[in-house]
Amino acid sequence: MMKNGSIKKCNFLSLALAVTFLHCTSLPHKTGRNSFSDTAKEIASYAKVANDIIDLAVYGKAQNRSYQRLADFTDTIGNRVSGSKNLDLAIKYMFNALGKDGLENVHLEPVKIPHWVRGEESAMMLVPQNHSMNILGLGSSVATPKEGIEAEVLVVESFEELKKRAKEASGKIVVYNQPFVSYGTTVQYREFGATEAAKVGAVATLIRSITPFSINSPHTGWQDYTEGVKKIPTACITVEDARMMGRMAKRGQRIVVRLTMSAQTLPDADSFNTVAEIIGREHPEQVVLLSGHLDSWDVGEGAMDDGGGALISWEALSLLKDLGLRPRRTLRTVLWSAEEEGGVGAQQYFQLHKVNISNFDLVMESDMGTFTPLGLQFSGSTQARAVMAEVMKLLKRINTTTLEEHAEGTDIEMWMDAGVPGASLHVADSKYFWFHHTDGDTISVQDPMEMNLCSALWAIVAYVVADLEEMLPR
Ligand SMILES: *[C@@H]1O[C@H](CO)[C@@H](O)[C@H](O)[C@H]1NC(C)=O
Ligand SMILES: *[C@@H]1O[C@H](CO)[C@@H](O)[C@H](O)[C@H]1NC(C)=O
Ligand SMILES: *[C@@H]1O[C@H](CO)[C@@H](O)[C@H](O)[C@H]1NC(C)=O
Ligand SMILES: *[C@@H]1O[C@H](CO)[C@@H](O)[C@H](O)[C@H]1NC(C)=O
Ligand SMILES: [Zn+2]
Repeated sequence: MMKNGSIKKCNFLSLALAVTFLHCTSLPHKTGRNSFSDTAKEIASYAKVANDIIDLAVYGKAQNRSYQRLADFTDTIGNRVSGSKNLDLAIKYMFNALGKDGLENVHLEPVKIPHWVRGEESAMMLVPQNHSMNILGLGSSVATPKEGIEAEVLVVESFEELKKRAKEASGKIVVYNQPFVSYGTTVQYREFGATEAAKVGAVATLIRSITPFSINSPHTGWQDYTEGVKKIPTACITVEDARMMGRMAKRGQRIVVRLTMSAQTLPDADSFNTVAEIIGREHPEQVVLLSGHLDSWDVGEGAMDDGGGALISWEALSLLKDLGLRPRRTLRTVLWSAEEEGGVGAQQYFQLHKVNISNFDLVMESDMGTFTPLGLQFSGSTQARAVMAEVMKLLKRINTTTLEEHAEGTDIEMWMDAGVPGASLHVADSKYFWFHHTDGDTISVQDPMEMNLCSALWAIVAYVVADLEEMLPR
């Protein structure tokens, strides 16, 4: 169409004759969007680029690079919970590494983040048997008194059962032995278990870890107290111990536990979101954002949650830089701080940058593991979805053409709620919650070849969307 033609001519003139942008803007402007078939053709023309990215990431000299970088990072820094010295070290490490990699506009954006410290903790069953339990206090929990809390246990399997048996809860330690349905459904026990138990007079809670599989491993995570409800100490216990207490209770056995926790909430700490870019050649102010979070829990190494997501968001830019690809719009990798405490760094980023929301083309997050990729989860308008479905066709060679519903990511959801198209990586994640928030989340659960595929997918999607003539329709 004529409008497109005039834009092309504009680019050509400005390059070939080195005319000024002013000259350019005096030419007739586009008044509408490209037709869908034009866009589909345009996207299909990226087949060679997609092939080059796959060659480099999966079969070429960048093979296993994201894994090796992740291994070096986790071996050097270890875990990095919000407010910790390790998180500071992790941010410094990444800032240096991104700069050394030759990426552009590498910088840190200050944020304030929670500072909860676990301290010493233990739980001992005293009746009917002496049994030391593996526990992990939950993020934001208060401490017990120094001598601990020794109390009889009330075991329930649901909030409904707790309500029915409210009269029995007073002065007890409530143990939640809820079955695992899905993370999204069952995590409410970790988040609100303490508050619900406190409302009926419990003195502490022990919550069955949110996982479908266990080798006596406790899983930590953030929990939320409710304003105006007494704050009682809360920790997760293993599936094995929860089920054992469930059986004991059903038999009518009396159970007594002593819980000791010295957790502390310190004043908010200074931290940073870590940013690196490939600056757009034509619309530098317009952005495709790729992200993962740099913080983790204070157990394991946070390799899977979310070292992998952070590393492929770096690797995607490395791959494009290695291939000399500079898209029309800016590619911006952001490694968030304090995701685990509720997307704290990302919320502050949104508040600061939402003034430019019309320039955010697509926001992407990988935070469900970097195992074998299956496809992309996407949230956006029907028109945007149609465009993304064409982009995904470029991934046929690595069998990840599926475009699914509902992008997710704590760190990008406010952008999506405000109408910006969002995408999240969907991987074969059946084991993700086996390791999630435990000592088992180490580099050993990652696979180099799987990360290569994730990196290729991430790079192709980000690059093509950032290079299309038009931003994704809202
Ligand atoms: C990448 O990792 C795979 C699987 O561990 C291995 O077979 C392959 O040799 C590695 N490639 C390079 C270049 O290190
Ligand atoms: C449990 O340990 C306490 C001391 O810590 C001891 O007095 C008690 O006899 C033990 N109970 C059993 C059943 O071993
Ligand atoms: C908003 O975008 C403009 C133009 O690119 C830029 O100069 C400014 O720094 C941006 N503001 C924020 C808060 O990102
Ligand atoms: C994609 O699927 C084809 C056919 O099943 C298979 O031969 C190929 O190895 C797969 N490629 C990848 C990267 O998994
Ligand atoms: Zn995460």
